[in-house]
Amino acid sequence: MTGIGSGGAGLEDFLAGARAAFSRALGAGTAPRAFFAPGRVNLVGEHVDHSGGPSLALAVDRGTLVLGRPRADRRLRLHGERPGETVELPLDDLPAVRRGGWEDYALGVLRGLGPSGLPGLDLWVGGDLPVGVGLSSSASFTVAVALAAGTLAGRPPRADALVELALAAERDFVGVPCGRLDPVSVVHGRAGRALWIDAAAARHEAVPLDLGDAELLVVESGVERALVAGAYARRVAECRAAHEALREHAPDAEHLAQVPAEVLRERAPSLEPTLARRARHVIEESARASEALERLAAGDLLGLGRLLVGSHASLREAMEVSVPVLDDLVDAALAVPGVHGARLLGAGFGGSVLVLAERGAAPELAARAARVAGPGPGAGRVHRLRAGDGPRELGPPDGAGDRGCA
Ligand code: GLA
Repeated sequence: MTGIGSGGAGLEDFLAGARAAFSRALGAGTAPRAFFAPGRVNLVGEHVDHSGGPSLALAVDRGTLVLGRPRADRRLRLHGERPGETVELPLDDLPAVRRGGWEDYALGVLRGLGPSGLPGLDLWVGGDLPVGVGLSSSASFTVAVALAAGTLAGRPPRADALVELALAAERDFVGVPCGRLDPVSVVHGRAGRALWIDAAAARHEAVPLDLGDAELLVVESGVERALVAGAYARRVAECRAAHEALREHAPDAEHLAQVPAEVLRERAPSLEPTLARRARHVIEESARASEALERLAAGDLLGLGRLLVGSHASLREAMEVSVPVLDDLVDAALAVPGVHGARLLGAGFGGSVLVLAERGAAPELAARAARVAGPGPGAGRVHRLRAGDGPRELGPPDGAGDRGCA
């Protein structure tokens, strides 16, 4: 399948379908403009960004599509692709607190942009990114809405502003204390590139992503990420507590990720055991991310695969964010010839598994995954993902071209 983000022959059909859906949902009239933001895959460096650790990630060639047009009145009409996802609100009286639905991500962004500077809006949201499986559909959604609404207001946000708008929407409005990994990957990712993201310094750098004969596959577990927001916030709080407990022994460590491994080794027996496990994950996973950067540069895919396996073991035992289906999927993947490594993807507690495999391994992977995946929709589905470009307006079907953001 050609993803929206990879352009190509499938894009025009996809856009035509989306434009028809827009008219059905929001009525005929002025043709909408189309905006895209990708999802992301994190290679190594999971559950460390909230604690100042580095990640090696990429934007993918699938994402969120927002079609939008200004309205003559001061209303916001927001329509999601899935049944029942329609919200209509007065733009000048947007809710001050979250409502508990999918629209919260968009409302957080619109509040961040400042509703008084926006025109009334008709927005339709769709795309080809599996939602809620660890591909950062939420950052993809918030960034696409920010780009659409800002551009339709005549003030297209610059890249750094997109990152901050997405972060603020998720942290301050939706209420999840997430790190910078997702919006930075979504906004700054590029085709053929991975991103080295240094959460502590709020810096990132693009590096070549050459996987040779290998490819990245994502297998859906079919297990919804139940209660993920509460469990995620708890992990972040535990990491903070671990840092507090360790910082007098490592005064230079501004974040937990910078506490030297030997300090943790010495102090671990006196730490509360849960905090010691969280600290071990953050410190070791940060070291794995640095090693992954070296393995990738050296073209050592077997070595990179081993780091994925180590990452999963630590997410399971030390960060405790795995569930049995994810462990079974990782084991099933590792039994497939040509698979270099596998691990749970994103925040955990369900979602999906990332697999680094030689080309040709996907059919057997799909067969084995089907045997162990959960009961939910999408269970065992395998997606082949490539590095894709960041957010942009998609040119009209007449071929005027796409416009990226600065
Ligand atoms: C979620 C958060 C990110 C990051 C990952 C785990 O996707 O939004 O900030 O913490 O989980 O690596």
